Amino acid sequence: MIISELVRVQEEEGWISPDAARSMASRLGVPLHRVEGVLSFYPHFRRTPPVRIEIAACRDMACSLRGGRALFQAAKALASADVIVREVSCLGRCDDAPAVFINGIPLHEATADKLVRIMRGEEPCPTADPLPPPRPFFLPSSDLAPPPPPQTVDPDKVIAALKEAGLRGLGGAGFPTADKWSLVRKATSTPKYVICNADESEPGTFKDRALLEGSPHLVLDGLALAAQVINAAKGIIYLRHEYDRALRALSKALAERHDLPCPVEIFVSPGGYILGEETALLEALEDRRGEPRNKPPFPGTSGLHGQPTLINNVETLAAAATIWRRGAPWWNAQGVRGSSGLKLVSVSGHVVRPGVYEIPMGTTVSELIGMAGGCTGKLLAFAPGGASSRFLPADKADTPIDFGSIQAAGSMLGSGALVVVAEGTDMHDLATNIVRFFRNESCGKCVPCRLGGERAVVILEEVAAGKRGRGDLALLDEIEEAMRLTSICGLGQVALQAALSIRDRFSSSP
Ligand code: SF4
Ligand code: FES
Repeated sequence: MIISELVRVQEEEGWISPDAARSMASRLGVPLHRVEGVLSFYPHFRRTPPVRIEIAACRDMACSLRGGRALFQAAKALASADVIVREVSCLGRCDDAPAVFINGIPLHEATADKLVRIMRGEEPCPTADPLPPPRPFFLPSSDLAPPPPPQTVDPDKVIAALKEAGLRGLGGAGFPTADKWSLVRKATSTPKYVICNADESEPGTFKDRALLEGSPHLVLDGLALAAQVINAAKGIIYLRHEYDRALRALSKALAERHDLPCPVEIFVSPGGYILGEETALLEALEDRRGEPRNKPPFPGTSGLHGQPTLINNVETLAAAATIWRRGAPWWNAQGVRGSSGLKLVSVSGHVVRPGVYEIPMGTTVSELIGMAGGCTGKLLAFAPGGASSRFLPADKADTPIDFGSIQAAGSMLGSGALVVVAEGTDMHDLATNIVRFFRNESCGKCVPCRLGGERAVVILEEVAAGKRGRGDLALLDEIEEAMRLTSICGLGQVALQAALSIRDRFSSSP
């Protein structure tokens, strides 16, 4: 109620004034601190009146690799009373790097010249993109028309098919999907909920956006299947607010569906990377600050409003629908080199054609880089799983992309976000950029994460400035250990992984 009211007021008035917050508190019958607590947590809510032009430039890894900082500085130099220029966290458009939004709308192929012309009023601000043509993923033509009428599914058969296909969560954690569905199915308390986590926000990650925009029906198929298996009373799609085109595509697809086994609604997140953490997302849905919960209990037994809740990533649901429709043997046969299934990978950084690529699981990193047009220079390094994964050197590019092989090579597949780095890149700067991201996005609930991220950034910056020797980078080990062992969610646990891998594997790079 508080979040939806804040969204409504901001839509109507452009911002949330102190008076608006006070009158909302009395209208809703809640103390002002409840409204302020929510309002101050989410970056989407504006506390000052809007200006003529607001430029949001991404400062994170994929954009930084493609000139984001210079673009920001060029725009910042022209900021004025009615033109605000600010740096923001990953916008989920790492394939269009450096990513820039103007008044909340993506500016494609942003250049300093283009920005300057818009700021001077010589060129119009961008307008919302039209819906893209359907882009069938996993299953050719699956999404070109609404699917056939619903059939009653046998939950045990669905779970058996997912197990046979070995499907794992494709949002980063890699938890076996069949086990998750089975756990929630067996929970006896009702009502139950199913949630599609469409809040991808990690630098380098944007494949769910492509899936939601191009194949929304396939995602709804997966949600409907999951709802049938666990007997859900309600489905929710938790979508990041920057994904306006995905929102329109999903809303259109939802309006076309009359076969869903339960009501499905879209919740537009008011923002923050941490909201992709499944218990933080539940807190937002329950109208509180999006801070992760202590676990256990896990959402499968005690999730939304304390009820059993199945939370799956967008791609996981789409893959589940495909497996159920085509069968596990078909799915397994799609992989190569002993792997099974298909995988969407976001490819960004120093490649000729950044984008989302659908590959047979087991495709090598170098093959995928080739599909993306090759590295723009001589390959130096790559991160296979976005900002939270450890960087690997070029001589590991023959590693097949699957959970086990990437792990054996010394990193992790995560959600499947290949970030490519060419020789000549300042790797220390890249490490600092990544740690800054996690520092900025920490919700601050646990002390080790809140302070550790900041300490790590200071050390990295002081080494770069020559105030400390490189030997002081050894201090990062202690910080990393404390964060990994004591943080209550994955953000704090992985925040320094990429930086440590860069320190250990690329110390001779500039
Ligand atoms: S680890 Fe960091 S992001 Fe996660 S709950 Fe703790 S402070 Fe918040
Ligand atoms: S949009 Fe810049 S890193 Fe993702």
